Amino acid sequence: MLDYSKKTVAQQRGYLVKSTEEAKQIGTFWLEQVALQNAVEFGLPEIDDRSHVWRVPLVRKETTERLGEIVIDARTSLIQEEQTTATKILEARLLGRNADYQKPTSKKKNYPKISALHNIVACGDSETVLTEELPSNSVDLVFTSPPYFNARPEYTDYLDYDEYLLKLRKVIRAAHHVLNEGRFFVINVSPVLIRRENRTKASRRIAVPFDLHRLFMEEGFDFIDDIIWVKPSGAGWATGRGRRFAADRNPLQYKAVPVTEYVLVYRKQTEHLIDWSIRFHPDQQAVADSRIEGAYETTNIWRITPAHDSRHPAIFPLELAEKVIKYYSFKNDVVLDPFAGIGTTGKAAAKLGRRFVLIEKEPEYAQIILKEAKGWLGEKELEKVVKRL
Ligand SMILES: C[S@@+](CC[C@H](N)C(=O)[O-])C[C@H]1O[C@@H](n2cnc3c(N)ncnc32)[C@H](O)[C@@H]1O
Repeated sequence: MLDYSKKTVAQQRGYLVKSTEEAKQIGTFWLEQVALQNAVEFGLPEIDDRSHVWRVPLVRKETTERLGEIVIDARTSLIQEEQTTATKILEARLLGRNADYQKPTSKKKNYPKISALHNIVACGDSETVLTEELPSNSVDLVFTSPPYFNARPEYTDYLDYDEYLLKLRKVIRAAHHVLNEGRFFVINVSPVLIRRENRTKASRRIAVPFDLHRLFMEEGFDFIDDIIWVKPSGAGWATGRGRRFAADRNPLQYKAVPVTEYVLVYRKQTEHLIDWSIRFHPDQQAVADSRIEGAYETTNIWRITPAHDSRHPAIFPLELAEKVIKYYSFKNDVVLDPFAGIGTTGKAAAKLGRRFVLIEKEPEYAQIILKEAKGWLGEKELEKVVKRL
C-alpha cells in the first residue's frame, strides 16, 4: 500500500498546480491582467478534487469581504473563465453598487457565421498561436494528427507521457475556443509502440487514442465516430510485432500486426442538432455546392494506402485528408491543422475549395508548406496568405 499520509490531495492526484501558493501565483497574474491587484486580495485557496479545480476566493483588501473567486484547472493551470467571477461583477461589488450584476445569458438567437480568416501559415507552437492570435469561433473544422510520443528521453520533446498528454489537452482546449459551435474536430491517431531497450525488457504499447478520448470528453466535445483507417496488409510488419509468434506459435505470445489507425471524430458541444449548422448556414449556395455526390464511405472502415515523403517522417495520405474535409466541412470553410507537418491538410483543403490555417513548429516544415502552397493556390493567391514565420 502506498503511504499517502504526507502528500497533499493535489500531489496524490498528480495535479500541475500543487499548492495554495501556486494557486495564488496564478491568481495574482490574473488580478494584474484585469488591473484589480490593488483592491482585491486572496482568501485561502481550496482544492476541489471532484472537478479538479482550485477555487481561490477574492476578498476586498480592507475588510476581507468576499467578492468572488478565481477558478483554476488544477491539471493544466489554466484559468476557467466561465466559472471565474466576471471582472464586471468584481468591479460592481467593489463600488458597492449593482452588485447583483449577472453575466449576460445568451438567450439571443445565434446563427452560424462565415469566418473572416484568410489562409494562414504559421510557424510556432500551436497552443500559443491559437490562444494569442486566432479569434474565438473562427474555424469550421479541425483535422490533424498529433506529434508522435517517443518514450526514450533522448528522442522526445516531453519529459514523460503525462506531460505529452497535458500539451495535447492544452491544444485541444485552444482549438475548442477557436472552433465554431457544433463543428468537428477529427484526429488521426494510433497506439504507440515503445520498443524494448534490450532483450531482457518487454516492448510496450501506449493506447494514446483512449487517453485522448478522455481529454476530448473533458474539454467540451461530444464523441461522434471511430473510423478505422485500414492499410493494405504488409504495412505493419515493419514494426516487428507478430514476428516472434509467426516463428514459434506459442499461445500468449500472439501479437496482432497493426494495420489500422483511428480517425476519431468529435463535435464541439452545443444544444443544436447538426441540422442547425446546415439549415442556418449563411451561404446556402456553398451548402448546395458541398453535397457529396456518388460513391462515399458508407462504413467506419476506410481502406487507404499510407503515404511517404522523404521530407517528413509521419505524413498522412492526401486521400484521408480529402475524405475528412469533404465529409465534415462546407466549401469556403476554414480548416485548421495545429500540427501541420508539411501541410497535407492544407493541400486537401485548397483542392476542395476550403480555406486553411496551418500551424507547424518546425521552421523547416513550415517553409516546405509555403513552397508547396504556391502549387495549391497559384502565385497570386499565395501572396494573400497570412504568413507568420
Ligand atoms: C504527425 S506530424 C503531422 C504531419 C502532417 N499530418 C502531414 O501530413 O504533413 C506532427 C507535426 O506536429 C509538429 N508539432 C509538434 N509539436 C507542435 C506544436 N506544439 N505546435 C505546432 N506543431 C507541432 C511536428 O513538428 C510534426 O511536424
